[in-house]
Amino acid sequence: MNGKYRALWLNEDGYVEVIDQTKLPFEEETVILKSADDAIVAIKDMIVRGAGVIGNIGALGVYLAVKENSDLKYIIKKSKEIRESRPTAVNLMWAVDIMLETLLNCEGDLLETAKKEAIKICDEDSERSSQIAKYGCDIFEQIMKEKGKKSINVLTHCNAGWLAIVDDGSALAPIYEAKRRGVDIHVYVDETRPRNQGANLTSWELGQDEINHTIIPDNTGGYLMQQGLVDVCIVGADRVSANGDVANKIGTYLKALAANDNNIPFYVAIPEGTLDFEIKDGVKDIPIETRSEDEVKYIRGLNKEGKVDELLITPKGAKAVNYGFDITPARLVTGLITEKGVCKTNEEDIYKMFRA
Ligand code: MRU
Repeated sequence: MNGKYRALWLNEDGYVEVIDQTKLPFEEETVILKSADDAIVAIKDMIVRGAGVIGNIGALGVYLAVKENSDLKYIIKKSKEIRESRPTAVNLMWAVDIMLETLLNCEGDLLETAKKEAIKICDEDSERSSQIAKYGCDIFEQIMKEKGKKSINVLTHCNAGWLAIVDDGSALAPIYEAKRRGVDIHVYVDETRPRNQGANLTSWELGQDEINHTIIPDNTGGYLMQQGLVDVCIVGADRVSANGDVANKIGTYLKALAANDNNIPFYVAIPEGTLDFEIKDGVKDIPIETRSEDEVKYIRGLNKEGKVDELLITPKGAKAVNYGFDITPARLVTGLITEKGVCKTNEEDIYKMFRA
């Protein structure tokens, strides 16, 4: 399974090995993370990305800190640095906090405990992902039944597959399940500028499993929805506030608006670790990452010689701004597809499902 449905694994030397997602789809390479600092660089530079996998590397980063130095002061310091390596995906803070609490209460072998807990966090994400797959695919089948259709067109934004959450992802999990159930499914993949997670990663993932899909420029979804070419939208999330507001890759909000205007169901697939009960108003309070303007100004691809290259696509001195995420208000979301079932995006229903 390593490297096919897992973006990360422990190698035989006890180090963390990850697929280098900055190289896909042109080069398939892995990177070995030997220290907490390596984990921090991998998260910051987006060698690993996607809320679930960031959380997993957060947990494994704490394990690597323990492997380097079992002094609790060092472990706490590194955990704080890992926690701060990217600001929006709350799975990172969630996973690091679980690790720290376990280690602070540990009476046995610190390293063994850290390793066991980090592996547990990854494995539980995998179980959550397979539950999301089933609930999400049931929705697809229900939509087909209601419309009397033999096939379904799904639109997704960014990458929420197994590169983002082991082993099936979140938003792509029901799509993989549809393939397993023999559902005739076609996926519109938003290219997801500026880093092109859709064009580079989602398309690569779906291609590996021979899932019928078409990459579309980010501006195309609204027109497709208006023309009746999309039956359902499904995305993942980096953080969902207690009132059901959804932070996900920049551009998600516009798709939700278009879906709402065209009466197309708009679902958000998340595991529990993506919920942030501390934030009551996501639009106001979810921290949004700002990244380098170079990600907007330069584009990466294969040149005519077949070599990976970067090109400037703007005037040299032009100014750009690069918000990594936006917030889709709860009112635009049809439901959250979680490992516990499907939940409406309001505080009462979210609490009932996760805190009752
Ligand atoms: O900046 P990225 O690539 O880490 O952003 C990823 C996303 O926005 C995904 O849609 C999100 O993490 C949900 S999938 C777990």
